[in-house]
Amino acid sequence: MKDLQNKAIEVLNNNWKDGFSVPCANLYPFQWFWDSGFIAIGFAHFDMPKAEKEIETLLDSQWDNGFLPHIIFHTDTDTYFPGPDFHRSDLSAQASKKYKSTGMTQPPVTGFVLQDMYRISTDKKATLKFIESVIDKVYFNHEYFYTNRDPKNEGLVYIYHNWESGTDNSPIWDDIWETMNPPEYTFERRDTTHVDASQRPSKREYDHYLYIIDIAKEHNYKDEKIAELSPFLVQDPLFNSMLIKSNQSLIDLYQLIGGHDAKVSQLQKWQDKAVKSFNDKLFDSELGVYVHYDLRNEKPLRFISSSSFSPLFANIPSKEQAASLVNVMMEKFGNDNQYLCASFDPTSDRFNPKKYWRGPVWVNLNWALYYGLKNYGYMDIAKRVKADTVEIIEKAGFYEYFDSRKEVYKDGNAGYGGNDFSWSAALLIDMLQDN
Ligand code: GLC
Repeated sequence: MKDLQNKAIEVLNNNWKDGFSVPCANLYPFQWFWDSGFIAIGFAHFDMPKAEKEIETLLDSQWDNGFLPHIIFHTDTDTYFPGPDFHRSDLSAQASKKYKSTGMTQPPVTGFVLQDMYRISTDKKATLKFIESVIDKVYFNHEYFYTNRDPKNEGLVYIYHNWESGTDNSPIWDDIWETMNPPEYTFERRDTTHVDASQRPSKREYDHYLYIIDIAKEHNYKDEKIAELSPFLVQDPLFNSMLIKSNQSLIDLYQLIGGHDAKVSQLQKWQDKAVKSFNDKLFDSELGVYVHYDLRNEKPLRFISSSSFSPLFANIPSKEQAASLVNVMMEKFGNDNQYLCASFDPTSDRFNPKKYWRGPVWVNLNWALYYGLKNYGYMDIAKRVKADTVEIIEKAGFYEYFDSRKEVYKDGNAGYGGNDFSWSAALLIDMLQDN
């Protein structure tokens, strides 16, 4: 285990770029929002100054309205598409003047990452001081979400692009693509020069992704216009779970710091409303899990994915609901010839065990599931999630995503996408430290 941990440390150190980390060399050459958060948790175990710098740089990209972008383009490189010239964050009057970025965001992990850094720290006083210096920016980011991303005032925020979900090409979005007919774009893909095309989204899927960005750009990334016009407008259980988990962390941390009663009470209001709406609206009692809701077409997207179980991480389900999630997970995703936890329902005909978010296991979702299961006292299953995560990395390497079918590991590589991937290393380090 020591060897694996040392290798993980090496991966993180190699992906460090003097102020921030790349998710992996070549395929993703910039700073990504939720990657940075997970990476900081890894660094916190062996190099707290880097963990702090990672978060500082991320928060330094904040826009005037509190928004945090999903990619910060620190360098000019033409090895990534779509890059800064396509996204054109400068169209927004509120964008950072210091960094070029995208005009979309990613799951808001920063609140709970700060609390994890505090949990891990061996010098709590110094870490709390660091947290005090950045926490208001994270609060401002939550204020942005509840003010601009919740048009019906439900306590649930929307995402306007599949790349905001973090689960980029989940089969859940297929239903939305069917409602659209984007133009055929001419562009040169860069991802497929680094990774086998069978593991990445198709060209036609990319047309949809680009078209949604074009609509947002046409309106200079104004949230009211996006809410009115974007063909993609979804309340995502994973995204909202991350926000709710982060709300709670901000409450806990502000209380630890002391003297922030107004912010704590505002956060508590957001939190109570969010948790109630989440359970009322996103729990599908027939399927026994949480599902996405398509706000544009006013209908639930009734599919089971690893996002369906993520509310465990944020203490959202009741005991009964948690039991139901665990049952469904073990029945569909957890038999003996599968590693936990596939990203999409292995019994569905949309399941593809090799393709990005259409089936493979991802370490960040496993990490959240591990802590979520522990929250609810499912110790044995939590242990299995951890053991499975260690085993796939041991067998395949620090890949971006992994096959969930055990038999595939016998004859060759079952790790897919980029290799030496930062969050796979970072979150493995964290799980190995936890008992
Ligand atoms: C992929 C993933 C996304 C991640 C990014 C960088 O686009 O889908 O979640 O943030 O890669 O690692």
